[in-house]
Amino acid sequence: MSARHLLKTIRGMATSDGAGVKLTRVIGSPQLMELDPFLMLDEFGTDQPEDYIAGFPDHPHRGFETVTYMLDGRMRHRDNHGNSGLLVPGSVQWMSAGRGLVHSEMPEQEEGRMRGFQLWINLPARLKMSEPRYQEYGPEQIPLVEAAPGVRVKVIAGEVAGVSGPIEQPATAPVYLDLHLGEGARFEYSLPHSHNAFVYVYEGGLEVESGMGNSPLAARQLGVLSVGEALRLRATGEDTRAILVAGQPLREPVARYGPFVMNTRQEIIEAVEDFQAGRF
Ligand code: CO
Repeated sequence: MSARHLLKTIRGMATSDGAGVKLTRVIGSPQLMELDPFLMLDEFGTDQPEDYIAGFPDHPHRGFETVTYMLDGRMRHRDNHGNSGLLVPGSVQWMSAGRGLVHSEMPEQEEGRMRGFQLWINLPARLKMSEPRYQEYGPEQIPLVEAAPGVRVKVIAGEVAGVSGPIEQPATAPVYLDLHLGEGARFEYSLPHSHNAFVYVYEGGLEVESGMGNSPLAARQLGVLSVGEALRLRATGEDTRAILVAGQPLREPVARYGPFVMNTRQEIIEAVEDFQAGRF
């Protein structure tokens, strides 16, 4: 069984999106435009209301999925198909935009900390024009597994020690784990061999251990992992928190324009026309 090693290390880029929300773009910036099937990873985290208060007013999506994982804060989403929900700390929203919707994501607090991640996962051509769909789970629905001494894992998608996360998406078979490791704690995990995978450390630090040596990953660094099966992580920080995300690559052409991700340029033009004509 070949161990996964660290291929490269990336730091996110400070940017803003929506109506001026400050965030760090980790995937979807020039350093790492995509990691098939992942199109974007944003980390948002601030205790300054002026950095988040304007939120993400009405905007469209077509052709992919967005996964929002809240660590702190409350965010209200609403869309033009009549769906609405409140994201609270520890909750996950997995939205399949499919053929298109228009929605808003607005903070439902005026002070305090807002922190979390938004990940964009591509859909295969055959599902890009499917009906929009939500999977929404409160913190009590995300299983917490004590995977090894000093290792606690929230299983959002995938399986750890026989415990499955609530999210299912057969098209990309995603794995999404939130890891909490005590100093020196080791976590070993087998991923499907051909899945693309990354680890993003958001607190503390860790090492990826493999036959190629041990590679450090500091806080706010994303590590792209080689293909393989076994992944071995060891926490070097006192209190390390990281997300481990993996998915089956689609290996299809990607045509991308802002919130529309299709396979061809022609499909992007159609997406813009459909949106402008109010067909979302
Ligand atoms: Co959105």
